Amino acid sequence: MKIALGAAKGLAFLHEEAKRPVIYRDFKTSNILLDAEYNAKLSDFGLAKDGPEGDKTHISTRVMGTYGYAAPEYVMTGHLSSKSDVYSFGVVLLEMLTGRRSMDKKRPNGEHNLVEWARPHLGERRRFYRLIDPRLEGNFSVKGAQKAAQLAARCLSRDPKARPLMSEVVECLEPLPALKDMAGSSYYLQIGQPERVGSSPDQTRTVAGSFSRNGQQHPRTLSIPNASPRHHQFVQISPKLKGKQ
Ligand SMILES: Nc1ncnc2c1ncn2[C@@H]1O[C@H](COP(=O)(O)OP(=O)(O)OP(=O)(O)O)[C@@H](O)[C@H]1O
Ligand SMILES: [Mg+2]
Repeated sequence: MKIALGAAKGLAFLHEEAKRPVIYRDFKTSNILLDAEYNAKLSDFGLAKDGPEGDKTHISTRVMGTYGYAAPEYVMTGHLSSKSDVYSFGVVLLEMLTGRRSMDKKRPNGEHNLVEWARPHLGERRRFYRLIDPRLEGNFSVKGAQKAAQLAARCLSRDPKARPLMSEVVECLEPLPALKDMAGSSYYLQIGQPERVGSSPDQTRTVAGSFSRNGQQHPRTLSIPNASPRHHQFVQISPKLKGKQ
């Protein structure tokens, strides 16, 4: 939760405190770097865009980012707003709670896309335990996990206007690291976890609070036709196409 809070503060700064609002556009676990004290720093500002000016709620731009993290309205219409970052934050929060990747083709059908899989459990107080990473073995605050799951649900609202501001996210996350009402393993086992079939758990969690790529898997990135030559560097270092507009 400390990492989530630190990253949320970074986005809140970009959206609400920077002289000119910035939309980060590529919020995901691998772009959150940590120092030795687990302080989060956002990296890779290559896709960041100036926010809309005046009364405008969004800017229209080519669709870029990473599958599994990009907000649905942005993917469908190219309308980009700070609420697109809030959606991506919701995905990362969900990855932290579940220990699952945003996209995981090794999981059974119906579980490839984390948000789709989690959505039915997110809104329900009694079912949210099913989401929590069993590898935590009950070593989490019940209230904190519940609050974080509710927050993730709000961030992942289909309607961008229903998503919170990042400053509200920060406010909600701030008290969570100090909570001590641990679920405990016996209580946790009573709740029962769905069986994790068809996929071995991610093997290593990097210090960055993200998950190792388990060998070959690379998150798919939304491709852009006609990426300009100055972005060929991206093409060379990864199979995905990237650019900025
Ligand atoms: N300065 C850094 N220190 C430590 N690890 C880093 C640093 N920069 C990147 N990484 C790690 O290296 C890996 C590759 O990062 P890279 O930014 O190239 O790809 P990515 O974050 O997966 O995708 P994208 O190109 O969309 O940002 C990631 O796991 C990332 O967390
Ligand atoms: Mg990166």
